[in-house]
Amino acid sequence: MIRIENLTKSFKNENSRLVALNNVSANIGNGELLGIIGSSGAGKSTLIRHLSLIEQPDSGTIWLDEIDLFKLKGRDLLRMRRQLGIVFQGYHLLEQKNVYENIAFPLQLVKMSKTEIKKRVDELISLVGLNGKAQAYPVQLSGGQKQRVAIARALASSPSLLLCDEPTSALDVVTTKSILDLLVEIHRKTQVTIVIITHELSVVKAVCQRVIVMDEGSFVEDGSVKQVFTSPKHEMTKLLLGYQEGQL
Ligand SMILES: Nc1ncnc2c1ncn2[C@@H]1O[C@H](COP(=O)(O)OP(=O)(O)OP(=O)(O)O)[C@@H](O)[C@H]1O
Ligand SMILES: [Mg+2]
Repeated sequence: MIRIENLTKSFKNENSRLVALNNVSANIGNGELLGIIGSSGAGKSTLIRHLSLIEQPDSGTIWLDEIDLFKLKGRDLLRMRRQLGIVFQGYHLLEQKNVYENIAFPLQLVKMSKTEIKKRVDELISLVGLNGKAQAYPVQLSGGQKQRVAIARALASSPSLLLCDEPTSALDVVTTKSILDLLVEIHRKTQVTIVIITHELSVVKAVCQRVIVMDEGSFVEDGSVKQVFTSPKHEMTKLLLGYQEGQL
């Protein structure tokens, strides 16, 4: 269980302070497939950067089971970071390494044996549907294939949480569908907790069970996809759903 507790983060710009996360709280249960939606600047990436321990909050914290994530230091922090898999819109692959090497990289960092690495990478290549592509370099892959490599790499060290920041925003409709299908399949097979950040309603509708709507650094709605999308309460949710004024 992940507990986001009164998380607050602001950034100092030239002469003002911008509150990117405004005292947000939520629980994420093990094995959930959660969507976080909001318009540009809502604070979605800032939230994911906290969940992935890249950013420190001004106040509040995140608990993973009984561990306060922001109290971790040194080796414990490194170990925890490895329990988090992250997928970005821009893939972030190592261009000089082939598919096999990209996926193997996090396993080499934890000094897994060559034989074990091979077994795990072969499994992952098959899981993400990239059989026959192990020797290909990122430049030889399509966007969808690159995202498959990124997903396999994120899953390499069997994380308890998979964080996806706009995983399909750079992809066309057909490829988006195939990547979302893959995430659903991975969720079904591994029961890993998945958080998908997106500004696209269709992504949340296609894969998520629960959705949190963000607006100006706050969580303005949180509920089942069905409930939030059939009876939206907040103006931002209505806006994202494309409701016309006077329609509700
Ligand atoms: N390092 C930073 N320094 C200053 N301001 C920042 C920093 N990171 C984020 N912000 C600001 O915080 C706010 C939230 O940014 P964030 O990237 O979390 O939004 P987002 O919801 O991910 O938007 P998008 O959909 O465009 O990716 C924005 O106004 C942004 O300009
Ligand atoms: Mg973002």
